[in-house]
Amino acid sequence: MILLASSQRISLAPGRWPESDLWAYVGGVPGPTIRVLQGSRLRVQVENRLAEETTVHWHGVRVPNAMDGVPHLTQAPIPPGGRFVYEFDLPDAGTYWYHPHQRSFEQVGRGLYGALVVEEADPPVVDRDEVWVLSDWRLLPTGELSDDFGNMFDVMHGGRIGNTVTLNGVLPEDFRVVAGERIRLRLVNAANARIFALEFGGHRPFIIALDGQPVEPHEPEGGRVVIGPAMRVDLIVDAIGLPGSRHAIRDTFYRDLPYRLLDIAYDDPPATVPDDLRIKPLPPNTMPEPDEASAERHVIAFAGGMMGGMKGATMEGTQASMNDMLKRGMAWAVNGIVSTGHVMDPILTLGHGHSYVLELRNETAWFHPIHLHGHVFRVVARNGRPEPRRPWQDTVLIPPRETVEIAFVADNPGDWMIHCHILEHQAGGMMAVIRVA
Ligand code: C2O
Ligand code: CU
Repeated sequence: MILLASSQRISLAPGRWPESDLWAYVGGVPGPTIRVLQGSRLRVQVENRLAEETTVHWHGVRVPNAMDGVPHLTQAPIPPGGRFVYEFDLPDAGTYWYHPHQRSFEQVGRGLYGALVVEEADPPVVDRDEVWVLSDWRLLPTGELSDDFGNMFDVMHGGRIGNTVTLNGVLPEDFRVVAGERIRLRLVNAANARIFALEFGGHRPFIIALDGQPVEPHEPEGGRVVIGPAMRVDLIVDAIGLPGSRHAIRDTFYRDLPYRLLDIAYDDPPATVPDDLRIKPLPPNTMPEPDEASAERHVIAFAGGMMGGMKGATMEGTQASMNDMLKRGMAWAVNGIVSTGHVMDPILTLGHGHSYVLELRNETAWFHPIHLHGHVFRVVARNGRPEPRRPWQDTVLIPPRETVEIAFVADNPGDWMIHCHILEHQAGGMMAVIRVA
């Protein structure tokens, strides 16, 4: 298939709001949902019709390094007018997504992304399988997209949090269901910075996958499905409401800013309810199991930002004060080093095929969704306490001043990014390279 990246005039609420300068893959925002069967090979030709360089990163897919889409580190960026062919196997089923890795804070922020669904050979039986790509836009009072991408306030604080959430590129209207049906909802958080905590208005969603990876089906803590930037959650939602009823899905993550995302609205008449209501776990994927007993341990510390108390860090080989950093648009560091681009010396070199436990320390006053490329890891502990279900993930949301331990086998050779997926934090220095050799 072909993905064509271009600038397009698009309104997020046609007829109500003016068009904005969005950057999009063929067909608008989000780009096409790519659906393929587990074990198959994907071949995508990307054509760059933007006025600047771009790449495509296949978030969460365990691709060979040369297909990872990291500019200068794994490939030369695709120049305006240029093209690049991505081709790789899909070893694991699940919900993934694709997006540029070049100036992501603006390229993703203007709409360049789409969902990638890798289907199980034997999927769970549901009445409907739906993808919800959640986007967050900062709109001006006119309804046009604000173009203050990468401003220093966003970099130093919680990133570019907008004021308008869309679902699959439009202001969500009702989600129409019939009583009794079972729906698989694949949530993709494509926002630069917004974290969602969705409540399903009296429904009891079960989480069956995190970041596309099967997890023992369970209800979310407190009934809220929390999903940080770049993360995915697969839910099974049973339509247990009465025909004709309505139920609000609300996002309550930011205490002062709760809002109604959309309503679940029931049509008449009801569907026939299946006899077997148990939710079966998804078939396992193919990641090798880390051996924690023999695993080598390393600490990765994330520091900086407002109210983080960081005095300075190493930037381009020299010691820089926080003030020097801010002048360069930087505010964050990983193990005391500020990234100013994707090419840098690895902070760790891991032995190919060996097991590792990385202790990720958030030494800041902000949440960070930390993403590792090329691998999927188990989240094994939080703040020293074993994590229930030890879920496989590729992005883990770490609250302020908390610590998360992840375990994985370094089985994919190459230089891989580890970075915050709040894209303004990433651009502001919160990025590092881990080498597997
Ligand atoms: Cu979704 Cu390094 O990115
Ligand atoms: Cu961050």
